Amino acid sequence: MNPPLEELKRRFAAFVAGFAKGSDQDLYNIRLKEQHSLRVLDQAQGITRACGFDLETAYLTHAAALFHDAGRFPQYAEYKTFSDADSENHARLGVRTLLRSDLLRGLSKKARRVIIGAVALHNVHRLPADLNPTLDKVTRVVRDSDKLDIIPVILEHLGGDRPLNPVVVLGLEDDAERYSPEILAQVMRRELAEYRLMRWANDFRLLLISWVYDLNHAWARRALLERGLLDRLFQGLPGDRAVSALRDQVNQDLKALIQGRTLA
Ligand SMILES: [Fe+2]
Repeated sequence: MNPPLEELKRRFAAFVAGFAKGSDQDLYNIRLKEQHSLRVLDQAQGITRACGFDLETAYLTHAAALFHDAGRFPQYAEYKTFSDADSENHARLGVRTLLRSDLLRGLSKKARRVIIGAVALHNVHRLPADLNPTLDKVTRVVRDSDKLDIIPVILEHLGGDRPLNPVVVLGLEDDAERYSPEILAQVMRRELAEYRLMRWANDFRLLLISWVYDLNHAWARRALLERGLLDRLFQGLPGDRAVSALRDQVNQDLKALIQGRTLA
């Protein structure tokens, strides 16, 4: 019998407590990832309920959501950054962390395999096509849940009058009027924008907008629309013609996708 989710949450809290040390800024950053993990679990529960997952698959999904960023804690402890480019891939680090810690103690072999697989795949640019069906299902929910939660966090850090927290916005340059045209072009082509091309804070807004094309579940797309996240992302961008054209396209596409239509 797999331990109940409540037990996994207790273990996670104890695991995080082991990393909560250092300056106020360090504690803030650790807490940010802890709360993110719990909110990603919330989102995942919304999706599994809406999609009518069976109990076992729902359990695996919830555990994977809770643990998806386990690698963030050792990553920050060692490198003081959440930038994978400046440290190491936090998903792979997460897998190593799960294997070493007691977080998955007492779970069946199958459960461990699916959860570890979903953690490993939660941040890949494109999911492999031939995944085991359960792993595929679980991973897609974790990826949508992760995206839904991280958008407001980044928005909050991009929007204020305080200087950008370099750990959260990955050291981007803050200039209200500038963005990288190649990132805008990627989103216009309905592609997932690439982190490595980002230079300006506005590029991060564009990258988050490109997630419209990478969400897997109607529940998540609807949440993006209903929570006003897309509007807030566009509000931060300059109002030039290219951005307005993108805004029209993305809004139309999102509504079409929610209604289950395929994009032309
Ligand atoms: Fe992550």
